[in-house]
Amino acid sequence: MSKTLIVAGLLVTSMSTFTPIARGQVKPTDVAHHEWWHHAVFYEVYPRSFADSNNDGVGDLNGITSKLGYLQHLGVKALWITPCFPSPQVDFGYDVSDYESIDPMYGTLADFDRLVAQSKAHDIKIILDFVPNHTSDQHKWFLESKSSRTSPKRDWYIWRDGKGPNQPPNNWTSTFGGSAWKYDPATGQYYYHYFYAEQPDLNWRNPEVVKAMLDAMRFWYKRGVAGFRLDAVDTLYEDPNLKDNPLLPGTDKFGFPNTNEIYNKKLPEVHDIMRAMRKVADEYGAVLIGETWTQNVAQLREYYGARNDELQMPMDLMMTEFKQVSAPAFRDHIGAVEGAGGWPVFVISNHDIVRSYTRWGDGVHNDDIAKLMAAMYLMLRGTPIMYYGEEIGMENSDPKSKDDVRDPIGRRGWPLEKGRDGERTPMQWSDAKNAGFTEVTPWLPVAPNYRTHNVVTETADPQSILNFYRRLLDLRRDEPALREGQYVALNPQDPNVFAFVRRLKGEGVLVALNMSGSSQTVKVDLKAAGFSQPKMRVLLTSSHTPITKVSTEIEMEPYSALIAKTVK
Ligand code: GLC
Repeated sequence: MSKTLIVAGLLVTSMSTFTPIARGQVKPTDVAHHEWWHHAVFYEVYPRSFADSNNDGVGDLNGITSKLGYLQHLGVKALWITPCFPSPQVDFGYDVSDYESIDPMYGTLADFDRLVAQSKAHDIKIILDFVPNHTSDQHKWFLESKSSRTSPKRDWYIWRDGKGPNQPPNNWTSTFGGSAWKYDPATGQYYYHYFYAEQPDLNWRNPEVVKAMLDAMRFWYKRGVAGFRLDAVDTLYEDPNLKDNPLLPGTDKFGFPNTNEIYNKKLPEVHDIMRAMRKVADEYGAVLIGETWTQNVAQLREYYGARNDELQMPMDLMMTEFKQVSAPAFRDHIGAVEGAGGWPVFVISNHDIVRSYTRWGDGVHNDDIAKLMAAMYLMLRGTPIMYYGEEIGMENSDPKSKDDVRDPIGRRGWPLEKGRDGERTPMQWSDAKNAGFTEVTPWLPVAPNYRTHNVVTETADPQSILNFYRRLLDLRRDEPALREGQYVALNPQDPNVFAFVRRLKGEGVLVALNMSGSSQTVKVDLKAAGFSQPKMRVLLTSSHTPITKVSTEIEMEPYSALIAKTVK
């Protein structure tokens, strides 16, 4: 737990210490008991869209392996690969039909083993995506469960009688639209699915399910996986009495009544299973990342576990919901995170949400804003998880018509809900046809900005977003204060510039972020952060006119970032 002190109106959080690893394992940690993942930069790969090695229009594992050099040079230390297990691909892999194999579309187990081995050679760890809430309706467990009411696997899923003819057991709705219950005429019962009907929910109250799923995790740990990102953890348990959720005003994007999902989300039992998964992870020294959507920091804190015995890395997804770039909003949020203890895990984009480049861009300063926001979340205390293409400023590219939509929620919810294709377009490797992703028609069209925003073009441009990301990641590697230092917020009343210091022993790194569209003068007074009139050296700036000196006041260009270090 961290200790929070209020010093002269500034929030100062001391470095967190962590419960030692279970079972007396000897693990490499630094003085603050930090493990590899505390200082690593993670990178999410959506395998369908990363690199297509066999030119079938869909990315694959060998494609990822071929890009390890690029990722290593970028400074990435861990790859989270979204599901690449056998799947009918209704939800593009989040409908798993075999937890212990690789979908032929992505390659073979031998390709996976090669990826792990090659990653090791590039000092990169592999994290897989584990989907515990549901399987595919084509998984052999579900086919067996569905076969009869007396099947030994019947209770592996949630089957119930309807309330009456044509009436589902209760009012729960699927987050992907419509009732969360599907009737099975052959056995005369409904099964529950929080996501698509093709993704029936597993019954985690059945110990056989728990055992089978924990064993599936062990299968991958034994193959060299360094951890898992756990999908949709808050939906694992449902109220056994199936009480109706209270109604809320209005309807959702699919036209169904809004409800307060108190009986099928975030049930306390979720924490029991997080602890069970953590025990298994500890057997292998592995790390667990959570897809933890929360409304506030206090809710997020719960996923670390009361004794730090649940997830090491519950994702803070809250910043992805900030619609605007605003110094007070980000300062307040980071202040709350720092005050709560725990090791933060920051995310600004992923495969389910509008890309940060588009979300935060104003249409004029998009590249500047992309650099600014990178300087914010990559310089904070904690572990960042990047999303592929974020480092080159990939934009969202939504389908233009319903016929073009691949993501089923987009087809069902069109035009209010366009689905998630826009944030899943192919990685932009070059300005060649199909952005160098494939030689055939890709499964989704490339985003229009590939001609200017791609790896080859940006590598050659010293001012590119890509080169700025590389320098930021170099700084994280080279500056101990950026890895270990305390977070000290500065100028708490400034409406435009979010500034903070990362302080370690006698050294400080200042990060100043002009989050406004006009030039700003920032006062630099680090006394309250423990430095009296220090000399400072500029480490990095995104200004078009470079800043070379830092005095007691700095002029900052609109949407620009400055990083400077105290000099003894
Ligand atoms: C998570 C995934 C999302 C998927 C859903 C169902 O939210 O990130 O892509 O559709 O779970 O598995």
